[in-house]
Amino acid sequence: MEDLILVAGATGDLGGKLCRSLLDKGARVRALIREESDRKKVEELRRSGVEVVAIRFKEEDGLITACKGVSCVISALAGLRDVIITAQSQLLNAAIKAGVPRFVPSDFCTDFTQIEPGENRNFDLRREFKDILDASDIQATSILNGAFAYVLRYDIPLLDTRSKSITYYSGKADWQIDFTTVEDAAAFTACAALDADAPRSLRIASFRTDPDELAALTQKVFGERFDLNEKGTLEQFSAYIKKTRAEDPEGESQLYPQWQQMQYLHSMFAAHHHTLDNDRYAGLTWHTAEMTLKEINNKKA
Ligand SMILES: NC(=O)c1ccc[n+]([C@@H]2O[C@H](COP(=O)([O-])OP(=O)(O)OC[C@H]3O[C@@H](n4cnc5c(N)ncnc54)[C@H](OP(=O)(O)O)[C@@H]3O)[C@@H](O)[C@H]2O)c1
Repeated sequence: MEDLILVAGATGDLGGKLCRSLLDKGARVRALIREESDRKKVEELRRSGVEVVAIRFKEEDGLITACKGVSCVISALAGLRDVIITAQSQLLNAAIKAGVPRFVPSDFCTDFTQIEPGENRNFDLRREFKDILDASDIQATSILNGAFAYVLRYDIPLLDTRSKSITYYSGKADWQIDFTTVEDAAAFTACAALDADAPRSLRIASFRTDPDELAALTQKVFGERFDLNEKGTLEQFSAYIKKTRAEDPEGESQLYPQWQQMQYLHSMFAAHHHTLDNDRYAGLTWHTAEMTLKEINNKKA
């Protein structure tokens, strides 16, 4: 009998791609959906061959039933404390009670264990859930994929096609930053979910690039070399983000307020992978930095 993988957050961007990758690998996939979930996305999941189970996270019996017979639970939920701590804990407890052997939390980010507490609110929540998970009687695997490559499309200071500039901090023009496309993260995570021996953390990147290399690539792809711009130290950037956060209490209830986006940029220069597990599974292909910049250029043309 094929493995049965339970996906929470299957109606989301990563979760939807994860379901497809799992089905491609011949796994059976069960998706948790809620009353609030987008009907169209639920229908798409159903049509693709995913078993859809409607639950309420706070109703334990239904969650336990949904977890029965499952070999790995993958959480691709996105949200703040009510999701990353509360809903994921409800899911984790149900998985343990149903006898599920393995759990993949919704980390899918930079190696947050390298980031100082207080520097990135969304990573602080992941660190808090990691403590809960590590104290639980279940085998866990976190997928640490750096930043999703699509953030480079958003004219962030690291690659701003409007001002044609590339910003970096603390002299780190040669600091390698990890990027992974959502598709590559989904394909790798599907392999990890089917791998009974997967370790506690797996580090991946579709590509790693640094500001110097990005500048060279802008010449090649955009036909014009963007200006490299050092904007102070990471300590100064951190102090500025803390001030911006203090002035925006409403942002505390938003997933990606402006200061949170700056925290992600700060984290890109504060932590990176020292080794990669990209080669753990055969047959995966990885997007490159040049492909990503070409896609950005084509969209702007
Ligand atoms: N490294 C990076 O640069 C990067 C960038 C973006 C995201 N991520 C991470 O990737 C993971 C997936 O993100 P995504 O962009 O795929 O998210 P997404 O598209 O926004 O999807 C979020 C999913 O979470 C579910 N959800 C939201 N609120 C919920 C709640 N209160 N209770 C239960 N379920 C809830 C949604 O289900 P419904 O349809 O039922 O609402 C949906 O399936 C997250 O860990 C996110 O932080 C990383």
